[in-house]
This record gives sequence, structure tokens and C-alpha cells, in this order.
Amino acid sequence: MSYALSAMGREAASMLIRHPRPDEALDGLWPAYGKFAWNLDQVYVVEVDGQLVGGALIWDAGHEMVHLDELTVAEGFQREGIATALCLRIREDLVARGRKVLLGWTRREWFEQFAKRYGVHTGGPLTLLWWPL
Ligand SMILES: CC(C)(COP(=O)(O)OP(=O)(O)OC[C@H]1O[C@@H](n2cnc3c(N)ncnc32)[C@H](O)[C@@H]1OP(=O)(O)O)[C@@H](O)C(=O)NCCC(=O)NCCS
Repeated sequence: MSYALSAMGREAASMLIRHPRPDEALDGLWPAYGKFAWNLDQVYVVEVDGQLVGGALIWDAGHEMVHLDELTVAEGFQREGIATALCLRIREDLVARGRKVLLGWTRREWFEQFAKRYGVHTGGPLTLLWWPL
């Protein structure tokens, strides 16, 4: 499905939300992780005029709860509703397969306020831990 961006601010452009193709480089979106092999069904990218300008990962292990991670929109494309459209698309896909909760984390107060507009619950301190293997 493609969403018209004009309604969200960017005139005469169209945005495609899709999974990456197997040969597509992702390190432009995620410099630290792009080199890894991904389960592409759980990676979403946003294409505008042939360019990847945003993306997110989901961690769906078959539970009713799914984790959303690495939501990103490139500078120059922010504040045009791209992250919002991406999250709504991901939500649509998850609802269609019976998932019940989408979990994520942020340290930004404004992101929390924005998320609450969509009925997201927030709370609890969280520290990211990662263990390179
Ligand atoms: C966070 C991020 C994914 C948002 O992407 P986006 O496409 O710009 O988001 P949207 O245009 O859908 O914005 C949705 C709402 O979020 C809020 N918002 C987005 N960016 C904001 C900013 N820099 N400051 C304050 N509020 C912001 C606004 O309420 C906005 O709605 P509005 O433009 O109608 O006021 C993008 O800014 C990004 O990749 N930033 C770098 C990483 C980062 O800061 N992450 C922190 C959040 S986890």
C-alpha cells in the first residue's frame, strides 16, 4: 500500500512503505546495524522518490506482544508524518495477524507525548543493554 504524502506536508511526492529487497543496503538507515543479515519480513523501509528515507524493525517471535525498534527517519524528511504513517502501517499488519501489544522504548518526552495521542501507554525507566557476540 502507498500513502500520499501531500496530505501530510510533502507536495507531489509519494511514499512507499514496504519490506527491503534482499539486495538492498540498509546501512544508510542504520549505520551501526546495517551490515547484519536481517529477517526482511520484520524490517520495514519507507521509500520516497526511489530513496530509502526511513525504517523500523519489529521483533515478532510469535507472541501476542511484538517489539518495535530502530524507528528512524532521515534528516530532511522529518516532521512530514513519515514515522506516523510507518507506525500505523506496522500496526495494521500486526492487527491483521492477531498481535495484541506493540512495545517500544524512548528517552524523549516529546515522543512519549506524541505516542499518547495514539493511545500508547508509557511508564517505567529503561536502560538499553547490548552484548556484542
Ligand atoms: C523520531 C523520528 C523517527 C520521528 O520521525 P518523523 O517522521 O519526523 O515523525 P512524524 O513526522 O511522524 O512526527 C510525529 C510527531 O512527533 C513529534 N515530533 C517529531 N519530531 C519531533 C521533534 N524533533 N521535536 C519535537 N516533537 C517531534 C511531533 O508531535 C510530530 O507531530 P507534528 O509534526 O504534527 O507536531 C525521527 O525524528 C528520527 O528518526 N529522529 C532521530 C532519532 C530520534 O530522535 N529518536 C527518538 C525517538 S525514539
